[in-house]
Amino acid sequence: MYNETIINDTKEMVRGKLLNEGTGHDWYHIERVWKTAVTLAEKEKANRFIVELAALLHDLIDDKLVSNKDEAVQEVMYWLEGVGVTSKDSERILEIIETISFKGGNSKKLHTLEAQIVQDADRLDAIGAIGIARCFAYAGSKGDPLFDPELSVREKNTEEEYRKGKSSAVHHFYEKLLKLKDLMNTGAAREMAEERHAFMEDYLTHFFNEWEGH
Ligand code: ADP
Ligand code: NI
Repeated sequence: MYNETIINDTKEMVRGKLLNEGTGHDWYHIERVWKTAVTLAEKEKANRFIVELAALLHDLIDDKLVSNKDEAVQEVMYWLEGVGVTSKDSERILEIIETISFKGGNSKKLHTLEAQIVQDADRLDAIGAIGIARCFAYAGSKGDPLFDPELSVREKNTEEEYRKGKSSAVHHFYEKLLKLKDLMNTGAAREMAEERHAFMEDYLTHFFNEWEGH
């Protein structure tokens, strides 16, 4: 059953934990994913309580953020129990965040509509205007250049370059961002992805024109 107090308490807890996070999983990423997930849940008629909690908690067990994943999962479990989420709902929420946080889980088909929605919302935040900004911010933090014309193919690095970890912000578009539109699980997310995808293609056209001095 929907309980606004539980949502608000969870929101404050996550905000406190991630407000000063620097890996691209900061609080405002969570807040955007949460808002987008609400939009998708309404359009797809999903269980909003499950979707909202899973969206708010989805990065708390990411191995880029925590050193001990099992401990992080335990912590989320205790939190949910503490605020009064039923064990059945807790299990659903944990299953969602565990599946979508796994690297390999990206290709795994998600069982429930709620899981699909949280993954879609997370992916929508990686494309469009925000996605472009996150990509350049991440590349900058890694020391990658905006673009590297020396890398053999624009579309995909060679194996060797890839192994050496050579990439650029613009290469990441081809490695990942431009593929996300076709990976959306729900119709509502696919629709939102269209515009964001078109904007990225437009952006790249401008980028390469300016790169050549046109
Ligand atoms: P997720 O939010 O799904 O865990 P990641 O942690 O892989 O995604 O990435 C966080 C953000 O940084 C995303 O917007 C992603 O596109 C971007 N990013 C990840 N890897 C790179 C990279 N090699 N170059 C540029 N941006 C990247
Ligand atoms: Ni995320």
